[in-house]
Amino acid sequence: MDAPRFQLAFLVIFAVASSAAAAGACSSVTFSSNRVYAACSDLPHLSSSLHWSFDATAATLSLAFVAPPPKPEGWVAWAINPTADGMIGSQALIAFHQPNGSMGVRTYNITGYGSIAEGAIDFQTSDLAAEYSGGVMRVFGKVKLPAGTTAVKQVWQVGSSVADGVPQQHAIAQENMQSKGKLDLIKGAVSGSEASSSRNKNVHGVLNAVSWGILLPIGAIFSRYLKTFESADPTWFYLHVTCQIIGYGVGVGGWATGLSLGSKSKGIEYTTHRSIGMALFSLATLQVFALFLRPNKDHKYRFYWNIYHHLVGYTVIILGIINVFQGLDILGVDHKWRAGYIIAICILGGIALFLEVATWIVVLKRKSDGSTRPYGESTSNGAQKPLSV
Ligand SMILES: *[C@@H]1O[C@H](CO)[C@@H](O)[C@H](O)[C@H]1NC(C)=O
Ligand SMILES: *[C@@H]1O[C@H](CO)[C@@H](O)[C@H](O)[C@H]1NC(C)=O
Repeated sequence: MDAPRFQLAFLVIFAVASSAAAAGACSSVTFSSNRVYAACSDLPHLSSSLHWSFDATAATLSLAFVAPPPKPEGWVAWAINPTADGMIGSQALIAFHQPNGSMGVRTYNITGYGSIAEGAIDFQTSDLAAEYSGGVMRVFGKVKLPAGTTAVKQVWQVGSSVADGVPQQHAIAQENMQSKGKLDLIKGAVSGSEASSSRNKNVHGVLNAVSWGILLPIGAIFSRYLKTFESADPTWFYLHVTCQIIGYGVGVGGWATGLSLGSKSKGIEYTTHRSIGMALFSLATLQVFALFLRPNKDHKYRFYWNIYHHLVGYTVIILGIINVFQGLDILGVDHKWRAGYIIAICILGGIALFLEVATWIVVLKRKSDGSTRPYGESTSNGAQKPLSV
């Protein structure tokens, strides 16, 4: 396999993957009492998210607002402001631990910045309920909107305390002041400054798809097939190591962006994706450090090291690909990005299959030529039998 062809394949794959920066919507999150919502959006501030179904004919909005209050004895609020942009004028649903200890939702017509009083709001509400668990409060309810509504101005907030059944003032950090924006009930678009959140997700997705999902498999292909050719020794070794080190570096960057995204979305947990990510990081780190412990080629333990290296290596590649698909699910990306990644993986798989066959042909041919030199052995310290696993 000549280097230019590899480079070409790599460039094509890289182009496919990097264009896969996808616009996201959050995935299916399950709620108690079989509550299901058609749409969902992470809100740009306060680690919160909104899930909703909108019956346009009846102009009825069924929603779940999820946010972590600063303290368990605090409150969370979601509101529609029919008249203005910010807090004043908001028709709010506020959830907190009621004086008797159970979670409840009350409605507030917010007319000023001072103390607020429970009371009727401009919209008819029903099925109001609230829950608190895992540091997160969830507000459920149905709101009847004026006929013909397709978008609303939403405002949301969290506060740390409630006194005598009255939610107390919230913090005035930037996050608390910017937690408002337009919500398009039909298209599911949330405006405001949410761009950074979805941009971070896309960065996370691209870094990880390119590193774990593409670079590491390419590195493995270099190692497995290139060393069949004496002329490629020790080039294959350097290609392999370079590819894996770059893949690992980019992958750790992607992993770190994932941790940061995870810490910002307390309300929603993607346990499988997260666990696979942790396993990947640990195994890949182990793999990098094991490089320094590699016994010499003639050392009796080298055989075992090779088995270990292959096992961990292939595990990382398989888990990496699985987790890219998990991530695509979570991002809820367009089908074309998923298709793009599937095509990239198929190209790699095709190249690997082709090389596998080609390698065996070369091996069998060498055997029938009566070569006494065991195939695949080479002079480089990095060499080993390519088909040993
Ligand atoms: C607690 O109080 C709320 C009203 O403040 C009421 O709706 C709810 O049923 C009460 N819960 C219990 C367990 O008494
Ligand atoms: C909410 O407060 C505003 C301003 O005081 C008032 O005009 C409006 O009628 C109130 N809404 C309800 C439903 O009471």
